[in-house]
Amino acid sequence: MTKDVIQTIKDRASVRAYKPKEVPEETLEKILEAAHLAPSAGNIQPWEFFVVKNQAKIEKLTEIAYGQEWMTQAPVVVVICTNPDLSAAKYGQRGEELYALQDTSAAIENMLLAAEGYDLGSCWVGAFDEQQVKEVLELPAELVPLAFVTIGYPEGDKEEVRPQKELDEVTTIIN
Ligand SMILES: Cc1cc2nc3c(=O)[nH]c(=O)nc-3n(C[C@H](O)[C@H](O)[C@H](O)COP(=O)(O)O)c2cc1C
Repeated sequence: MTKDVIQTIKDRASVRAYKPKEVPEETLEKILEAAHLAPSAGNIQPWEFFVVKNQAKIEKLTEIAYGQEWMTQAPVVVVICTNPDLSAAKYGQRGEELYALQDTSAAIENMLLAAEGYDLGSCWVGAFDEQQVKEVLELPAELVPLAFVTIGYPEGDKEEVRPQKELDEVTTIIN
């Protein structure tokens, strides 16, 4: 039984330290399944997930992520790509520049929340050299790597709670 969705959202926080413990295959599958149930414009589902468990490859991805060394502790790194051509075919420029990114970001967030739901830690990593990722993973030309998501069992205490803007700072009620 996983947690209630609101509690899961509240509990999720980036985890950058992991135990050297494998993530069970069936749990990983459930996390990927949750990611691919995300909404997408026209139900195009332009995302593709590349699951990396090989330690040497994770070290390579860490290098490509400008040496974010903590990443090497993660037993799994999922490289999430989007295919803007699919969205462009239906929605033109708006599909290519906006929907493909929005759809795939929704899948990424689902992935983070699902990981939290299974008491795993995760972190969305966006700082990396896109071209090098394509080369190392030999990705098809049309795919754009959007994020790495590290997944594993958290090591140690949670990081300090991040400062959050006040809700009324970011909310305008239009009557
Ligand atoms: C688009 C994006 C890119 C990010 N890139 C990185 C990154 O390269 N390295 C990292 O450690 N965290 C990265 N993060 C995680 C953020 O730092 C983190 O979500 C933010 O500080 C809020 O903290 P929380 O996730 O604990 O709520 C990224 C998050 C997003 C959404």
